Amino acid sequence: MTRVPQRAPFITFEGGEGAGKTTQTRLLADRLAAIGIACVVTREPGGSPFAEEVRALLLSGHLPPRGPMAEALLFLAARVDHVAETIMPALEAGQWVISDRFADSTFAYQGAAGGVPRATLAGLHHLVLGDFRPDLTLILDLPPEIGLARAGARGQSAVDRFESRELAYHEALRQGFLAIAAEEPQRCAVIEASGSPEDVAARAWRIVEARLLSKVG
Ligand code: TMP
Repeated sequence: MTRVPQRAPFITFEGGEGAGKTTQTRLLADRLAAIGIACVVTREPGGSPFAEEVRALLLSGHLPPRGPMAEALLFLAARVDHVAETIMPALEAGQWVISDRFADSTFAYQGAAGGVPRATLAGLHHLVLGDFRPDLTLILDLPPEIGLARAGARGQSAVDRFESRELAYHEALRQGFLAIAAEEPQRCAVIEASGSPEDVAARAWRIVEARLLSKVG
């Protein structure tokens, strides 16, 4: 079962494009706030001033593609700063943190879909973050056709460099997230992301209640 740490819990949302992570991150934070648990809400890439600069560099499309390994290293550089500047200080001060994406995105996008070996990414993460990982990861699962249609409906300006890749890439991405969930069932839960945001939020809430709230009392 989920390990409950001394520090406050760290929750991440993961999933492909258009799965609704950003909405669900907000809805979960609202629901926790309603029971008196104020959360730090953050995102990746980004979440600290330096990491937001790296986000702009990675997602703007102004940078010619440098391949998945260089991308992974940039995402990781942003992540190290995000953890040091934002996530860890909050957790150690007793505040819950919810992040819209974290390390599993690198394993799915640059790993499963991009071709960087899993062991390479695991080694790099271990080198710079040790054993630090989320206490609970909610993977929002959706067929890529539906996710891409949702992402497209947000308007062309919201379609970034990663969203514009072909369907096979997004299917590999989905399988990558599902493989992570199968490998780490004690940390991860897969949530069906179809239906209304409220339905999906209710599914997420049931898992947070069972895995975290029942243990913190
Ligand atoms: P967003 O769609 O959640 O804003 O994320 C921005 C894009 O960055 C999204 O297409 C996924 C991609 N990404 C990676 O490729 N690797 C990573 O490690 C992270 C955090 C995001």
